[in-house]
Amino acid sequence: MITGKLPRAQLTYLPTPLEEAPRLSAALGGPRLWIKRDDRTGLTFGGNKPRIFDYVFGDVLAQGCDMVITPAGPQSNHLREVTAAANRLGLKSVIVIFGADGSEELQGNRLLFDLLGAEIRYFSTNHHDAYYDPALLEFTEKIRAEFEAKGHKPYVVHFATRSGVLGTVAHVEAAEELAKQFEAMNRVPDFLYVPTGSGVTTSGFVLGFKHLGIPIRVVGCSVIWPPAQTAGDTVRYANAGAEELGLSTRVTAGDFTMLDATEGGYEVITPPVSEAIRLLAKNEGILLDPTYNGKAMATLIAQIRNGALTAGHTAVLLHTGGVPALFGKNKELAS
Ligand SMILES: Cc1ncc(COP(=O)(O)O)c(C=O)c1O
Repeated sequence: MITGKLPRAQLTYLPTPLEEAPRLSAALGGPRLWIKRDDRTGLTFGGNKPRIFDYVFGDVLAQGCDMVITPAGPQSNHLREVTAAANRLGLKSVIVIFGADGSEELQGNRLLFDLLGAEIRYFSTNHHDAYYDPALLEFTEKIRAEFEAKGHKPYVVHFATRSGVLGTVAHVEAAEELAKQFEAMNRVPDFLYVPTGSGVTTSGFVLGFKHLGIPIRVVGCSVIWPPAQTAGDTVRYANAGAEELGLSTRVTAGDFTMLDATEGGYEVITPPVSEAIRLLAKNEGILLDPTYNGKAMATLIAQIRNGALTAGHTAVLLHTGGVPALFGKNKELAS
């Protein structure tokens, strides 16, 4: 295994299934479609985060840290899974929620932070994408100093720190896992559609497949930032991952496709997203979240309708989890 030397916290159940979705293909008039069920990776409601935190918390333990601090938005899957991972490993955790102040409704992931017993701090901002805001990082560092003064050894989980590169590494491993599943199927699909936020998850697949020489085209569906910006971040994460793993392979923006899935805005459900969620649920009994996977599936469907994906193609959708976000969107999703 390419990633074999790095410590892991054993938080995942791998490999996840790769399931064909024939009724969905028929409903859409082809292509052949598969779903990579990374909504079943483990912790609470699975997703890409347990894969990432297997390595991040491996590093937390290897460095002898006794607590983690991490920032994200009020419906973040990341905050839910950091808290769950820390609970599983008996570590203290503090989550920093930006764009909320404690008056927000306890629903979706925000309810789950509460059930998991997260210690919460609030960072005031009007920006939904404050993740890389230097003021947020400064706020997080102040919390680190506060706990250091109390005798703790905190570890900050943020993709601008070592956590980002470990997320890439985790998804190089996921690419290797998929490559074995393709070998067993005797077929390499044409495309892997990946719901994309920071680009960390996508970067691991791009690097992993390129390094292994697997001729599948990774198609990121950028739901937060403009695709050119996300593509640049994906390249940076991929090449930092290559360095971390001592691989000579390097990635450029030409190695993958990054599509625009920002229509309507972050966390806003448009009619095509609602249609995509209902279509997969009705035809295959699989639920997608509205923020990432619903948007990626809507993008895939648009590609079929505009002729970029044809009945002769085969495509995989990576299901990155996040399903609790559905429950906060009852009004928008009601039929
Ligand atoms: C369910 C889900 N899918 C996809 C992503 C995007 O992953 P990345 O930030 O690695 O691009 C996230 C990130 O928050 C997520 O929660």
